[in-house]
Amino acid sequence: MESPRQFSLVSFIALLAYFAFLASAELHVREFVIEPKPVKRLCRTHQSITVNGQFPGPTLEVRNGDSLAITVINRARYNISIHWHGIRQLRNPWADGPEYITQCPIRPGQSYTYRFTIKDQEGTLWWHAHSRWLRATVYGALIIYPRLGSPYPFSMPKRDIPILLGEWWDRNPMDVLRLAQFTGAAANVSDAYTINGQPGDLYRCSRAETVRFPIFPGETVQLRVINAGLNQELFFSVANHQLTVVETDSAYTKPFTTSVIMIGPGQTTNVLLTANQRPGRYYMAARAYNSANAPFDNTTTTAILEYVNAPTRRGRGHGQIVPVFPVLPGFNDTATATAFTNRLRYWKRARVPLQVNENLFFTVGLGLTNCSNPNSPRCQGPNGTRFAASINNQSFVLPRRNSIMQAYYQGMPGIFTTDFPPVPPVQFDYTGNVSRGLWQPVKGTKAYKLKYRANVQIVLQDTSIVTTENHPMHLHGYQFYVVGSGFGNFNPRTDPARFNLYDPPERNTVGTPPGGWVAIRFVADNPGAWFMHCHIDSHLGWGLAMVFLVENGRGQLQSVQAPPLDLPRC
Ligand code: C2O
Repeated sequence: MESPRQFSLVSFIALLAYFAFLASAELHVREFVIEPKPVKRLCRTHQSITVNGQFPGPTLEVRNGDSLAITVINRARYNISIHWHGIRQLRNPWADGPEYITQCPIRPGQSYTYRFTIKDQEGTLWWHAHSRWLRATVYGALIIYPRLGSPYPFSMPKRDIPILLGEWWDRNPMDVLRLAQFTGAAANVSDAYTINGQPGDLYRCSRAETVRFPIFPGETVQLRVINAGLNQELFFSVANHQLTVVETDSAYTKPFTTSVIMIGPGQTTNVLLTANQRPGRYYMAARAYNSANAPFDNTTTTAILEYVNAPTRRGRGHGQIVPVFPVLPGFNDTATATAFTNRLRYWKRARVPLQVNENLFFTVGLGLTNCSNPNSPRCQGPNGTRFAASINNQSFVLPRRNSIMQAYYQGMPGIFTTDFPPVPPVQFDYTGNVSRGLWQPVKGTKAYKLKYRANVQIVLQDTSIVTTENHPMHLHGYQFYVVGSGFGNFNPRTDPARFNLYDPPERNTVGTPPGGWVAIRFVADNPGAWFMHCHIDSHLGWGLAMVFLVENGRGQLQSVQAPPLDLPRC
């Protein structure tokens, strides 16, 4: 037994350590004022919805363990809410943000303070509006550094460069959405992609504002690449330079080197780049990876990596030399996209659930809703229909009178049901020639209940209804392991044997291979209502979504916290 004196010494040291720990965690208090601001791109000025007048919005830089209190003040004419994409929000769905899922939107003139703590997460995440198409301009980076003194698993460069890839419409994106919602046809594709808000040299009226990144010869930098685009997977590459992937979706990976990355909407990828080429100017560029049989924006956005000792053009004046252009894969190069994602591995042995309690099989894909009057202006989709999308034939409709989380917490009936099907209602050859009778999904607001701490596996099976496609599926409140994927129909007898249960990549957003499947696993240890949806906003609007309702556990630290007093009401 310890002597009283020893005991007091030990507890004194423990107390000191505790205070040091508290002192190192910071509280970041910020204001996000949602306001229109004139933004000029592609020769024209639009009143874009911004945060604090900035486009892209402010970068949040925090550390693991820190807390944030961000007051969102809505001075725009649209309802809005903000989502902290990838933050787990343990027991705190109230700070997650998707409108009508965990909160009612913040009305014009109102405000709401998102209060949350970063628990055991580090890396690149981002934040964005989670209200119709407002995230076209309302987004920014959320960078989480490790706790003070906690190391990176790779040698971390001194310099860090966020690369936000976005999509720009030469119109009000909310009008683009409104038109599509009226006609039932697909929304117009974007007019430009952007890097940190700028389209770059290859677009009209954009050259002067092209983003330039000065770099010292020999220097290594980390690029934190974020696909904040609404609707398009992208290939990204830097001329003559190799990229070493070290992290995806705030989870470290085993480093590997590649000349091109593929990144879907919602995903983040950190890469290291060393300036080991001839002093010069090099384009970094992004353009579409288009896996679907559908129209897409086929333009290319660029920024310039500029060696500080790059020579200037001789002869006429002191003009700058023309940057070298990278080789980008073809628009439909699924082989390159797949080869890239198949190389991802978690940086160490992963804690993958080995036994599965909930074995879910979800078909994901598009559909068409038939119209009684196919000539109606509201039925401008293929052959007089309206576009739809679904999971297990359920096309998700947002509730209007309350959010799902608030209704669940208050026990208010009539907002949603909990009969979301764990398997498709009919089995068919999902990636074959699907009969037209199976193209029309049913609408509803359905959730699937999960027991606290259940081990969940979901096989996400793309369908060939309308078109096969890479759907970047995002799960709120969780990080999951991507244990397997393949083309064609998932085979429950043979495919699980090939799962990687050792070092599968951890993500919050994963693409279904077009005409294929992907399997994910996670432990349902975060109670609350958590949205799972395709991060392509046009598909989300068509209903490619569902909700997991994770029940409370028994312990006090296993249930959802009480909602904050300023939580908006519908
Ligand atoms: Cu980044 Cu529900 O979204």
